[in-house]
Amino acid sequence: MDMITAQERWEQLAETLRYHNYRYYVLDDPQLSDAAYDSLMIELRELEAQFPALRTPDSPSQRVGDVPVESFDKVQHPRPMLSLASVFEEAEVRKWHERVLKLANGATLEWILEPKIDGLAVAITYVNGRMALGATRGNGIVGEDITPNLRTVRDVPLAIPVSDHAGHETERPRRETWPAFPENPPLASRMEVRGEVYMKIPDFHRMNRQQAETDEKVFANPRNAAAGSLRLLDSSITARRPLSFFGYGIDYADDVEILTHWDALGYLGRMGFSLNPHIRRFTDFEEAIDYAKEWMARRSELDYEVDGIVFKVNDLAVQERLGVVGREPRWAVAWKFPASEAVTRLLDIKVNLGRTGVLNPNAILEAVEIGGVTVSNATLHNEDYIRERDLRIGDHVVVKRSGDVIPKVMNALPEMRTGDEREWRMPDTCPSCGEPVHRAPDEANYYCTNAACPAQLVRKVEHFVGRGSMDIEGLGKKLAARFVTLGLLRDVADIYTLDPEELAGLEGLGELSAANLMTSIEGSKEQGMIRLLTALGIRHIGSVQAALLAEHYPSVDVLMQASKEELEAIPGIGPISAQSLVEWFSHESNRRVLDKLRAEGVSFASQRTAAGEGAPLAGRAFVITGTLPTMSRDEAKAFIEEHGGKVTSAVSSKTDFLLAGENAGSKLQKAEQLGIRILSEDELRELAIQN
Ligand code: IVH
Repeated sequence: MDMITAQERWEQLAETLRYHNYRYYVLDDPQLSDAAYDSLMIELRELEAQFPALRTPDSPSQRVGDVPVESFDKVQHPRPMLSLASVFEEAEVRKWHERVLKLANGATLEWILEPKIDGLAVAITYVNGRMALGATRGNGIVGEDITPNLRTVRDVPLAIPVSDHAGHETERPRRETWPAFPENPPLASRMEVRGEVYMKIPDFHRMNRQQAETDEKVFANPRNAAAGSLRLLDSSITARRPLSFFGYGIDYADDVEILTHWDALGYLGRMGFSLNPHIRRFTDFEEAIDYAKEWMARRSELDYEVDGIVFKVNDLAVQERLGVVGREPRWAVAWKFPASEAVTRLLDIKVNLGRTGVLNPNAILEAVEIGGVTVSNATLHNEDYIRERDLRIGDHVVVKRSGDVIPKVMNALPEMRTGDEREWRMPDTCPSCGEPVHRAPDEANYYCTNAACPAQLVRKVEHFVGRGSMDIEGLGKKLAARFVTLGLLRDVADIYTLDPEELAGLEGLGELSAANLMTSIEGSKEQGMIRLLTALGIRHIGSVQAALLAEHYPSVDVLMQASKEELEAIPGIGPISAQSLVEWFSHESNRRVLDKLRAEGVSFASQRTAAGEGAPLAGRAFVITGTLPTMSRDEAKAFIEEHGGKVTSAVSSKTDFLLAGENAGSKLQKAEQLGIRILSEDELRELAIQN
């Protein structure tokens, strides 16, 4: 091959790779398989090996990092990198608005709202469409040259505009939410882009897991992970860290007319930069306030950390007029979200029992306010979690609350120890019944295996009567605990032998509530096999497995006779579920419960007999997240609704199922924390075709 042919081929390959890199990392909408992408990359690398002159710094092959440096060079920012004034209250945002209005002399203003990404600010200079310099913010005047590191961040374009190899810039799909800007705009001969390098939360966890496995540094939060990764002297290590980028401004762009911030964003979008999809423009300030408030509630839906909403004046001439005070421009303000972390003392660790008998250590904290909520309890997961963090009773600990998720103890502050702190161990006996506890093999969990344990029974009853189970209204946690204490319930089947007169005589219950409770208990008898199996709370048998079983067996009685091998042969029932089921049925005490249920007229049949509940997903609340293999979100929503379910946007304790696809983010985490069943698209289909 001669040099000219090689050059042509190189350009074709480079353009194609850049375009598909953009589809993958910026648009989240890949068109090529990984294997196809890799094969193009291999060809490009081979070509560059043969003709080293082709290997320019902006080649797609150069995202793997460079040779390590001794230290970073300092770079002076042509114009300072400013910071944002922060406010915490709505009243302060309104004050800012009024001041801006006054200084703007009655001009009609527009407002751009942007999530404030919790990462690291960078400035990237492009000269004739080629990335020439990447710098950290430093002190705002002088930063550090981290060009080789920034080149490894996949959604930072090395060459702009990004287009497909045919040069059809306009054919490139753009996100609907991105600001419009005329097509095929001129290329700035020189431009400086400002934006944030950050790490997505799932990427952060994945990376930390890998780091821990190889005994390398584990980061405290995504921000530290992003900062630490970007400032490595060896950029080939940075290349292996999952960093992302959002552009949020242009400091200058020679030869391009940009009059508003919105246009600056539109121009960045056209050039192939990644923009945050939640950036919006408002003419009505009240609507802007509402939008900011909406994100205060929704921040945990994002799969990256956002610590506030930035308000910016749109018109650049007005921005200029408003000017800068100190390091902070008057034309922008950050409305910070309430803090989500605080330091407090770990007073004690108490063990709660789950319905499976699992012992859950729970932190008892000195009450502390986090984001407007008083926190005095937090989850500690299991003994290993406490050991790994060396948490001791009496320690000062960092507690984090994200969204409405149960607060979590993140780490201790050993430097604040006085010497009076005590290490903690899992008790040898169950705090409720006093029987010995056992650590399950290959698990971090300890279990109380006493079937008659009262605390377990309360949780079992709670689960049994729950919405996805027998759905017995009026029998909450407190009442369940009371009935257990009073000896009215010795197993879940006793629910059906409760005596209405006895109940009516209980303090605080009364005849009416007792009668209502009896009605809902009576009604639950017809729920049928799927709900009954789910309600029994057999380990590894959730509603999906229950539905599969009900499809293959006409009743619980027939199911009881099935062997492990037979069960395993059912698609969707694995060896673990099969084993668990066989074991459960083999216990004398469980069989007795079933006998009692049967005797009380609880339906064991797989045929759904309950009135008004025709549809298989009736009464079930779904949340959808991530990219599903074949359905679009709208299709999945329609599918669920057609089968009687409903779809909501946020995960909460009312959610029955999370339908999760690829790249599921914080919703998945949250659902896991709340113990919500997670379904794949296939499992959803299976669930819906039952009955
Ligand atoms: S604008 C006035 N927009 O917040 C110009 N900053 O305190 C300042 N940040 O150093 C930057 N998201 O690291 C701007 N959408 C956004 C931002 C953002 C995050 C960070 C950035 C900056 C700091 C300002």
